[in-house]
Amino acid sequence: MYRLIHNFSLRDHNTFGISAIAKHYLTVNSHGDLLHFLKENNLSDYENRLFLGGGSNLLFINDFNGIVIHPEIGGIRLVSENKSFVEVEAGAGVNWDYFVEWCVEKGWGGIENLSLIPGNIGAVPVQNIGAYGVEAASAIIEVRGITLDSDSPAESVFNQQECKFGYRTSIFKAQLAGQFIVTSVLFRLSKRPGFQLQYEGLIEKVGQIGGTNLRTVRQAIIEIRKSKLPDPVIVGNAGSFFKNPVVSELIAKSLKNLHPDMPQYPIGSGLVKIAAGWLIEKTGWKGKSAGKAAIHDKQALVIINKGGASGKEIFRLSELVAEDVLRKFNIVLEREVQVVGN
Ligand code: EPU
Repeated sequence: MYRLIHNFSLRDHNTFGISAIAKHYLTVNSHGDLLHFLKENNLSDYENRLFLGGGSNLLFINDFNGIVIHPEIGGIRLVSENKSFVEVEAGAGVNWDYFVEWCVEKGWGGIENLSLIPGNIGAVPVQNIGAYGVEAASAIIEVRGITLDSDSPAESVFNQQECKFGYRTSIFKAQLAGQFIVTSVLFRLSKRPGFQLQYEGLIEKVGQIGGTNLRTVRQAIIEIRKSKLPDPVIVGNAGSFFKNPVVSELIAKSLKNLHPDMPQYPIGSGLVKIAAGWLIEKTGWKGKSAGKAAIHDKQALVIINKGGASGKEIFRLSELVAEDVLRKFNIVLEREVQVVGN
């Protein structure tokens, strides 16, 4: 079944809580229904298109004059298993954290460090969500969806390599942006999990809760997230607003000479990731507001809506912050959040 609604408010469908209106809003309940809609309707008849999951990584600058496609495709299915692994398929509309909890309760490991990340399964491969030393890409084996670039929309399946995963990116966010809609994702999880506890303070937190197992790791991650990141149900935000910038070892070294306490993480291939939250904090923006938008006081990488902020107001604050980081450190901050409109 599909449903097409006109002049639909997106306020409850983006975690920033921005009051934007979508000219057309399509919900679908299955892969087949989406294909059916796309065969009967030409998406190029619409001025613009946007695929919307949980709306946890989006900033609407104004109303959306096109069609928003929101897959409400549910279902979690055990596809295969052996002594060591399970393969589980989840629909694009399944809430990510519900899925993580479900896997943890079954005793299947690999994604427990990604607990409490807001959003739905459909956005997980697009964005290659990551936290606390783990990226979703490490558990994804296939992404299924519909390709729109030809005259006739067709089902496509991408294996892990074809997804071209990178730091908060994939082929779906880059080359295929706007041309591929995820309908389900196949994950491989381990029955004998190896835990990733190297993130600062995680091992201690797990120890305080109890012995190391999937439940205690999930619990520790939830506690760490809650202590740093605002709950989007209470305070509008989209997690990290910027990516951590990546620079060459040479630049990293000269920055370190100037700022010995700058957090840096070598990521191989002669590249180093710099903590954007630290850079922003050093500009003095942490906890400061510009109108109804503010930099979160516990994690400077997060911009919050203090209540009733417009998308433009939030965007403007992000520009002010990025300008100051550029001025102070000569580093360009790239947005992680997808800005919609102008
Ligand atoms: N830091 C500061 N001041 C701040 C924030 C951070 O000095 O206001 C320093 C911290 O002390 C630490 C370093 O920067 O030394 C890194 O901070 P943190 O561990 O909080 O992580 P992050 O690099 O700021 C990234 C992800 C988060 C993810 C955490 C934990 C990105 C863009 N963000 O943040 O992901 O939860 O690591 O793994 O990579 C998200 O993508 O929405 C998100 C929240």
